[in-house]
Amino acid sequence: MNSTPISSAQTGVHEQLAGLVARHAAHAFRKPIADYNRRAFEHSLAAWRAAGEAPLILDTGCGVGLSTLHLAAQYPDHFVIGIDQSADRLARNTHWEGAEPGNLCFVRADLVDYWRLAADAGWRPARHYLLYPNPWPKIGHLARRWHGHAVFPTILQLGGHLECRSNWRIYVEEFAAALKQLSGQDTAAEPYTTDAPITPFERKYLASGHSLWRCRATL
Ligand SMILES: C[S@@+](CC[C@H](N)C(=O)[O-])C[C@H]1O[C@@H](n2cnc3c(N)ncnc32)[C@H](O)[C@@H]1O
Repeated sequence: MNSTPISSAQTGVHEQLAGLVARHAAHAFRKPIADYNRRAFEHSLAAWRAAGEAPLILDTGCGVGLSTLHLAAQYPDHFVIGIDQSADRLARNTHWEGAEPGNLCFVRADLVDYWRLAADAGWRPARHYLLYPNPWPKIGHLARRWHGHAVFPTILQLGGHLECRSNWRIYVEEFAAALKQLSGQDTAAEPYTTDAPITPFERKYLASGHSLWRCRATL
């Protein structure tokens, strides 16, 4: 199925991004945490403990979880947690060929709570992926993009190797700008090419001829 490129009235990094990021960094984010997210977090904590507390990889917004499987196969000495809010997506067939790696688990949770629970528990994932998050390309939707969200400082607090990919260059440019603003890390949006897509969205965008972008930092 062909995918149309992102269209947005925005032509560069949002002019209100820096102010929004500074505001979020200055004020604690106090939205109450929902019980179902606590239960989901506890479930993944137990699975990770049962796996011997290997170095952690978070695959946040994992969709059907294909990238979670790829990461688990690529990093067999790590434990990968795939998190998505959509039970429907998590239950769908990933079309993984062969035996599935065992060093992973999936949880249905809202990341806004899950990230804060992970930070409160002192988690320091070795690697942390945000692969093709919903772009929210309307100018008025800045605060729905992860770097414009009040939870963004918590994402950075978790540390590790952080990687965000998107087919919308501006999303990744903004992510890099927000990351630099809070961490001082001199990172930037870079083109990303691959012959081996690890997520359904990555595969779909490549098949449709879109350019892919990513931002990486080690925090
Ligand atoms: C565009 S899809 C990308 C899925 C997958 N990473 C891929 O590349 O194929 C974005 C995913 O983020 C999930 N998502 C969006 N907001 C979320 C939230 N607050 N908590 C958990 N998952 C969320 C959606 O359910 C969806 O599966």
